[in-house]
Amino acid sequence: MQIVRNSEELAQTRGSLQGRLALVPTMGALHAGHVELVAEARKRADVVAASIFVNPAQFGPNEDFSRYPRQEQRDLAMLDEAGCHLVWMPSVADIYPEGFATKITVSGVSDRWEGEARPGHFDGVATVVAKLLLSVRPDIALFGEKDFQQLAVIRRMVADIGIPAGIVGVPTVREPDGLALSSRNAYLDDDERARAVALPNALKSARDTIVGGGIVGPALAQAKQKLVDAGFLKIDYVALVDANTLEPLDAVQGATRLIAAATIGTTRLIDNLAV
Ligand code: PAJ
Repeated sequence: MQIVRNSEELAQTRGSLQGRLALVPTMGALHAGHVELVAEARKRADVVAASIFVNPAQFGPNEDFSRYPRQEQRDLAMLDEAGCHLVWMPSVADIYPEGFATKITVSGVSDRWEGEARPGHFDGVATVVAKLLLSVRPDIALFGEKDFQQLAVIRRMVADIGIPAGIVGVPTVREPDGLALSSRNAYLDDDERARAVALPNALKSARDTIVGGGIVGPALAQAKQKLVDAGFLKIDYVALVDANTLEPLDAVQGATRLIAAATIGTTRLIDNLAV
């Protein structure tokens, strides 16, 4: 596995690669969800590249940028084991050189939910993903459905500015009890970890109610109550949305998704389910 740490080396290496190339962008602190993206990439391409970059632009001023878990050696071992061929580990100066002044804003699909709870977050994501796609120039790039709104924002951005990479969404990898794998689960203590499973459980029962013909408003209210009962302190949203535009719905209509974000202790968790 080749490790590339600066832009010049990346340009040189990219020029010599042959065959269909897949990119798996990450912020490191890897887990089985990231490994699944690499496994899926291997099925769909000849050469698999991953990037590890904790992107300062997508963290708010009071968010966890400085404490975000950094474990380079472990991450590299996991990527090697997963069959990744190339790892792009840019420095902040590679991505945001002196004088950098451009920001990509994806209107509409970015506005609500995570966009509202985390102002500027999706600008940071869209800008860095555009840069990663333009520097690595993969044929396809893979993203997890775990970050469902992020996936929708990236699809919109790539279509709008015409980046020639296919975007592939990969289903969420979960713990045996149903909790979605996340680098941020490392922040949970044992008690919070045990209670966190209320998030996927609340989504599942809301989905079952809605699919069974129940009214959406009360189903969402009940899901919120379950989170409160489990000790979640702040519930940012539990919503039924259009899977492409992320606009709220009060009935199932075409591709529909249940999405939620809530905080347990000091850890903010997100999850979603197809309806
Ligand atoms: P990060 O949180 O490291 O996630 C990297 C990729 O792994 C994302 O596409 C995310 O959706 C996916 N992922 C995370 N948990 C998953 C799970 N349980 N199952 C399946 N896939 C999962 O998301 C980011 O980084 C950043 O915003 C990034 C896109 C790299 C831009 O900086």
